[in-house]
Amino acid sequence: MESSSISVKALKKELTKVKDSALLIGFFKEKLSLNEEFKKLDMQFGGIISSCIKNNGFKAEKGEIKSVYTNKNIKNIVLVGLGGEKKYNFDVLSAIIADASKRLRDNSTESFSIFLSSFGNGKFKDEELVEKIALSSLIGLYRFTEYKTKDRDKIKSIKQITIITSSNKNFDSEMQYASVVADAVNKTRDLVNTPPNVATPEYVASYAKEIAKKNNLKCIIFDEKQIEKMKMGCFIGVAKGSINKPRLVVIEYHGAKNKKPIAIVGKGVTFDSGGLNLKPYPYILNMKDDKGGAVAAMHIAEACSKLKIPISLVVVTPLCENMIDAASYRPDDVLTAYNGMTVEIKNTDAEGRLILADALSYAAEKKPQAIIDIATLTGASLVVLGYVGTPFVCTDDDLRKNLNNASVKSLEKVWELPLWQEYDESLKSDIADVKHIGDEGEAGVITAAMFLKNFVNEVPWLHIDIGTTVWSKVDKGVHNSLEQS
Ligand code: BES
Ligand code: MN
Ligand code: ZN
Repeated sequence: MESSSISVKALKKELTKVKDSALLIGFFKEKLSLNEEFKKLDMQFGGIISSCIKNNGFKAEKGEIKSVYTNKNIKNIVLVGLGGEKKYNFDVLSAIIADASKRLRDNSTESFSIFLSSFGNGKFKDEELVEKIALSSLIGLYRFTEYKTKDRDKIKSIKQITIITSSNKNFDSEMQYASVVADAVNKTRDLVNTPPNVATPEYVASYAKEIAKKNNLKCIIFDEKQIEKMKMGCFIGVAKGSINKPRLVVIEYHGAKNKKPIAIVGKGVTFDSGGLNLKPYPYILNMKDDKGGAVAAMHIAEACSKLKIPISLVVVTPLCENMIDAASYRPDDVLTAYNGMTVEIKNTDAEGRLILADALSYAAEKKPQAIIDIATLTGASLVVLGYVGTPFVCTDDDLRKNLNNASVKSLEKVWELPLWQEYDESLKSDIADVKHIGDEGEAGVITAAMFLKNFVNEVPWLHIDIGTTVWSKVDKGVHNSLEQS
């Protein structure tokens, strides 16, 4: 795994004593003059930094990078532009650190240092800076090379990153947090990237079992027969069209006594062909990412356990394929959900909400304090917020507040959509209790959520639709597009 092979540490050191292949120093546009510490460093290197600024036209524009090569104890002094100080924030910092890390790796650098205080603006706490820098480089440097067999020895990688600090503080807990979270993110990416012929429901379930074993978590896996016996009619309906049989994985983490658990439900469609309503090319491409919610949920459990977060979790992930077969479910079928509701099928490509319906009712039975589901549920999420942010719906003030705080901390943008009663109209069925899709082209994210709401049994609920944001179109900052790499 890429992230676990990179060692990141924070170290108190004087700038003039740093010895490394490269050193990153940040500059604001308005503050190109050198402070005392830089002046010393500049002198040590014979005025090379000041002359680069003066003569080579380094302006510290946001994202600008200028390398100054030396034959002394720092081989490559990298001047990094942070842009204007007023517009500087953690989003800018994160993208700059990730891009600079990738640039150094691609130039065959194996080890580099980052001068912490030059990336602060006086307002950020050192602890926050260290954590964001460590996370951004570890997540930014991710690659998926598992299936490349040629020239493996030519694959470049960073081995060590040192954050140079000037205080006596110890940043152990920030470093641990960053490494656990980066690991969870990168392992989630690994599994999402794993091709659908390999990452079948059975494979993902065994993977979950491994995670559980390593972290001492309780893990139950239900197979097709058991799922059928439990009368999860919607889940079974979707799963029937594949020879790769479904699994329902339940992982429990107990980090707090006498506290009701939080349930996390993740959509785990290991490949979504659309079923009989087959997805046309090119929309069928990349539908291996339809398991992103489930895989994320599993790694949330792992990360919470490693960080000993004082909460309890029950993670519920329905895993199956949505395929074409003589046994496939059809438009016009009526399925009976785990909670007894009858559901009229109108489009077999809206399979996610069906497997979630049964998983949500199952989670609700555990009497959790809240249910959070994460799902690559709709293409319509692209229309709502583009690739920039993730739409969500929520029935509870605390959950909403907590998600918004988490969004600020993780730099992942989210925006809430309403659950107005009017949207329920379009889910009315002539012959069953409910239809699983609304009117075409109208509020797709919301109507999908309105359908799910039938299955959470009044438990405080948060639904996160990662249909679009599960995959990045660009290779920028912490995002890594495989198509371009
Ligand atoms: N997994 C897809 C959603 C999706 C589509 C995610 C494209 C990422 C990119 C989901 O199962 C799906 O196919 N949803 C349909 C629902 C429609 C038939 C009501 C969609 O959004 O088109
Ligand atoms: Mn689908
Ligand atoms: Zn899907």
